[in-house]
Amino acid sequence: MKRALAVLIVIATAAVATQAFTQNFPLPSLKPAPTQPIPFSHKIHAGDNKIECLYCHFGADKSPVANIPPVEVCMGCHKIVAADKPNIQKLTEYYTKGEPIPWIQVHVLPQHVKFNHKRHVKAGVACQECHGPVQEMAVVRQVNSLKMGWCISCHRARLDDPKFPTTMDCVVCHH
Ligand code: HEC
Ligand code: HEC
Ligand code: HEC
Ligand code: HEC
Ligand code: HEC
Repeated sequence: MKRALAVLIVIATAAVATQAFTQNFPLPSLKPAPTQPIPFSHKIHAGDNKIECLYCHFGADKSPVANIPPVEVCMGCHKIVAADKPNIQKLTEYYTKGEPIPWIQVHVLPQHVKFNHKRHVKAGVACQECHGPVQEMAVVRQVNSLKMGWCISCHRARLDDPKFPTTMDCVVCHH
């Protein structure tokens, strides 16, 4: 009985919270883009040189995590391409030492939330719907709040999708 009441209170609070979340506030102040150990530009790679997102983020259509490419992927080109440039020499140093590049994470969901790239990518949701026009960004940054209201507003709009119906079940998104 006590437990049932506790659950009800959580749900009631969340319902109010969801309402508040879904109203069209101007974007909450998102973190500014971090300064990365190597100034990697998506504009140069995914824009100007049209390298596919999945060439580097090869987990995105196969697993929950999109993954950041290991330095070996970079060296496939940079053993030759722009090898004389200081930033490529820095890159090569990580490679020869066998050290991973300490990239700073841009998007971070709280621990209690489950997210799955594969499910979204397989359902045809474009990277840009969630991450914005990354191919135009010299420095990648977060453009959507990643708040519950943001997730829910898309899920709500696609509940009756004939091929990829979404869900509003709490346990689908929460541990
Ligand atoms: C040549 C490899 C490469 C390609 C191609 C590439 N990325 Fe990336 N991506 C990276 C690296 C390296 C990082 C980590 C450094 C950074 O944040 O800039 C990154 C970071 C990101 C992040 C931020 C990750 C975080 O920490 O939250 C997103 C989102 C992203 N990429 C999306 C994309 C999308 C969308 C495309 C295609 C339009 C794409 N990337 C193409 C290498 C690549
Ligand atoms: C439905 C929204 C959505 C779509 C579509 C999406 N992402 Fe993400 N992405 C997220 C969220 C949310 C996170 C943060 C995940 C976390 O903190 O656990 C994230 C994190 C990332 C990261 C950081 C590493 C990781 O896996 O946590 C990369 C890189 C990334 N996304 C790339 C991509 C690429 C490339 C595509 C398209 C192939 C894509 N994403 C499609 C929402 C999305
Ligand atoms: C498929 C080939 C390819 C891959 C893979 C690739 N790059 Fe590049 N990268 C390029 C090209 C092409 C340029 C533009 C070179 C130029 O303008 O002279 C470039 C430019 C750069 C530059 C700017 C160099 C300068 O100072 O002018 C940096 C830094 C860089 N890449 C880092 C990376 C990192 C880090 C990775 C791995 C996450 C990576 N690249 C993966 C092809 C690639
Ligand atoms: C732009 C639309 C969109 C956004 C934004 C979005 N989703 Fe989804 N979500 C989908 C679609 C489409 C599916 C696939 C449904 C299917 O495969 O039937 C899905 C599926 C899922 C699933 C798998 C459901 C299952 O039954 O296992 C989870 C978990 C999920 N989303 C969590 C999230 C979270 C957490 C966020 C916010 C951080 C989010 N989604 C944001 C459209 C979206
Ligand atoms: C589509 C995915 C999704 C669904 C479905 C979902 N949530 Fe969430 N929820 C999130 C995300 C993402 C966050 C973390 C971001 C935030 O705090 O808004 C969150 C945060 C929360 C929080 C913490 C808020 C805070 O301020 O820390 C509570 C409580 C919560 N959800 C309860 C619920 C309940 C109850 C349900 C079912 C009625 C539900 N959620 C359904 C994605 C979802």
